[in-house]
Amino acid sequence: MCRVDTPRSSTDDDSRNDERKRVPSQSDRVHTFSLDRCELGVATAATQIEGGHAPTNWHRWAEQPGRIKDGSGPWRANDHWNRVAEDQALLRELNVQHYRMGLEWARVEPKPGEFDEAAIEHYRNELGALVDAGIKPLVTLHHFNNPVWFEDAGGFLHRESTGVLQRYVQRMVGALGDLCDEWITINEPNIYATHAYYFGLWPPGERSLKTLTHVYTNLAAAHIDAYRLIHELQPDARVGVAQHLRVFRPRIAWHPGHWASAQMMEWLFQRVITKAMCKGRFLAPLRQPPGVHPGIYYDFHGINYYSRSTVSRLADGVGTDVAINDLGWEIYPKGLIEVGRWLHETHPGPLYVTENGTANSDDGFRSRFIHEQLAEIAASDLPIERYYHWSFIDNWEWLEGESARFGLIRLDYETQQRTMRESGRFFSEIAANRGVTEEMYQRYVAHQTYSRNAAVR
Ligand code: BGC
Repeated sequence: MCRVDTPRSSTDDDSRNDERKRVPSQSDRVHTFSLDRCELGVATAATQIEGGHAPTNWHRWAEQPGRIKDGSGPWRANDHWNRVAEDQALLRELNVQHYRMGLEWARVEPKPGEFDEAAIEHYRNELGALVDAGIKPLVTLHHFNNPVWFEDAGGFLHRESTGVLQRYVQRMVGALGDLCDEWITINEPNIYATHAYYFGLWPPGERSLKTLTHVYTNLAAAHIDAYRLIHELQPDARVGVAQHLRVFRPRIAWHPGHWASAQMMEWLFQRVITKAMCKGRFLAPLRQPPGVHPGIYYDFHGINYYSRSTVSRLADGVGTDVAINDLGWEIYPKGLIEVGRWLHETHPGPLYVTENGTANSDDGFRSRFIHEQLAEIAASDLPIERYYHWSFIDNWEWLEGESARFGLIRLDYETQQRTMRESGRFFSEIAANRGVTEEMYQRYVAHQTYSRNAAVR
């Protein structure tokens, strides 16, 4: 288990509902820690870094004026498709043992059932070079990115979509399985389905609760089918979903309406979908689809954890006087342990933090963020085996375009120059030392402070 060198303070109370009182984080009390069992990596997604003109739903969406905040599109991004070697040299500089990367489905299957051998070969070379460098890949098969032909045929609105996804999964696992044995079938089904089919903000821009429940159901069924298929092809594979999990707390703890909203948000946004995907049990408002049976459909849990929501109705909110990042998201490192504990208690299994990070353009608090988050992991008794920082490098952040800076490596989009940030150097030292020393804390973290949210949002 991960080990902490200094004992935790006995005043570890979580005064969640007194926002004025600054709750000391693990990192305030514990400067040094070692990560004995939790290995480090970094994460990316294909559409966000590769660049080029793959026929995806996102390329088409970004071409429509006004869709993306800064008018950018995924066609520039990091030009990673042409710079794999340069980026892998940076991965080696970061001393990481793991790399989570995605595949661009539209590149490898640009037309239904027609696979592009050159694109597959490209991914084989990329994975082969990682393996040669001693970096273990974890491959995401679907990360919000649909080929346009799939989306135009209705995408995950239809149950038949699972068969279409299977064809792609079969081909990819067949072609890459000698280089990779860890797979994420689907990234953040809740974020994808709500943004694309309920809020109408992502392609295809629909707003319907009925549609949302169909998509949720079909995503879960698609995962279950893919889980089974991958195990048929690769019996020892480890397969999971990267679930976006967040903490929901009532704005006023004693307020029945706020409390009910928090419970409802948690149920609808993450509990139902997690249960459906892990166990094949579809609870209300979903309905058990024909042919899907209860079972165990995970070998690990991927947790994408970023923030806590403070709610008073069925909508996201941020508390007062809490630390926030550039996008106004609350920074609440303990939340990772809270959601991880719920997940582990309800569906026991190894935990991989498949994404965690923060948008911070001047890198003024990213090292503090990393320190706080890893200190929580080190102090926890949960089986957290991996931590993949989001992100390896600044990348194309969906609706935020090129404006949100999540990278350990800074990217100049104009010149494509990559520069290691101070937080990248910190992360690389943590990976090399398997922990943080007092000297590292003083050098990277002690001087860093967060912005705070002055008003309720
Ligand atoms: C997604 C990433 C995204 C990150 C930061 C996650 O929801 O999986 O693609 O860039 O959060 O917003």
